[in-house]
Amino acid sequence: MLLGQEHDRMPVIAKVLVRDDDAVSLEVVREILQNDGRVAGPGPMRCHGRRQENRCVTTEESLRQERSAVGEALGRIASGCFILTVQDERRSTGVLVSWVQQAAFEPPMVTVCLRSGRLAGELVEASGRFLLNVIGADPKPMFKHFGKGFSLDQDAFAGLTIEPTSYGPLISGCPAHLGCRVIQNVRAGDHDLYVAEVEAGRVDEGAQSYTHLRGNGFSY
Ligand SMILES: Cc1cc2nc3c(=O)[nH]c(=O)nc-3n(C[C@H](O)[C@H](O)[C@H](O)COP(=O)(O)O)c2cc1C
Repeated sequence: MLLGQEHDRMPVIAKVLVRDDDAVSLEVVREILQNDGRVAGPGPMRCHGRRQENRCVTTEESLRQERSAVGEALGRIASGCFILTVQDERRSTGVLVSWVQQAAFEPPMVTVCLRSGRLAGELVEASGRFLLNVIGADPKPMFKHFGKGFSLDQDAFAGLTIEPTSYGPLISGCPAHLGCRVIQNVRAGDHDLYVAEVEAGRVDEGAQSYTHLRGNGFSY
C-alpha cells in the first residue's frame, strides 16, 4: 500500500511505504485513518518491533496532513442543496442532501448519496422513487426545518405546505422539483449511491437555487 515516500529520509514531514503483506503496519495505518489521522488511546503511538517512536509520529503527522488536504480539496466541490422526499404506503420523510449531481443527458439522470442506514434510504429502496426539491437562494428555512433529521414517529413536513406526488411530497416554495426513479444503487463507503432517471420536472420561473461550498469535505 503506497501512502507516500519512505519516512526514513524525511524525519519530520514524512510519508510511509507500507507493503501489502505487512499486516501489522497496515493495521496501524488503518487505525490512524479511521481516527481522522489521530492516534487512538493515550500515550505515544503503539509501535511494533524495535523502537520506532519518531518514525511513527512522523507517519501520523504525514497522514493527518494528507487527509486534511483531501478534505480541503473535496470542500471545493460546489453543489446545490435539496430536500429529498420519499414515501411508501405507510410513511413519508424528507432529508436535506447536497451530494446530488446530474449524471446523464439521455435519459436524464442524477446520482444521490445517502448515508447508509437513513430512513430515507430504506424508503427509496422500498418505493424505487424519490422527489428532489431544490433549495432556493435563501437556504435558512429549509436548513432549519430539515437540519436535525426526524425520528420515525415525527412528521417531517409539519408546518410546511406540501403537495402529494407519486415520487414524494412536493414542498411549495422550492424553486424546482425533480421526480426520480431509481435505476441502480451502489455502496460507496459509508454512503449508498443511487442512480436515478429524472422522469418529471417542475420549475418556479425566476427563483434562484442555492450553491453550497464547504471548508472541509469530511462534513456535509
Ligand atoms: C448542508 C447539508 C448537506 C447534507 N447532505 C447530505 C447528503 O448528501 N446525504 C446524506 O445522507 N446526508 C446529508 N446531510 C445530513 C442529513 O441532512 C441529516 O439527516 C441531518 O443532518 C440530520 O442528521 P441525522 O439524521 O444523521 O441525525 C446533509 C446535511 C447538511 C446540513
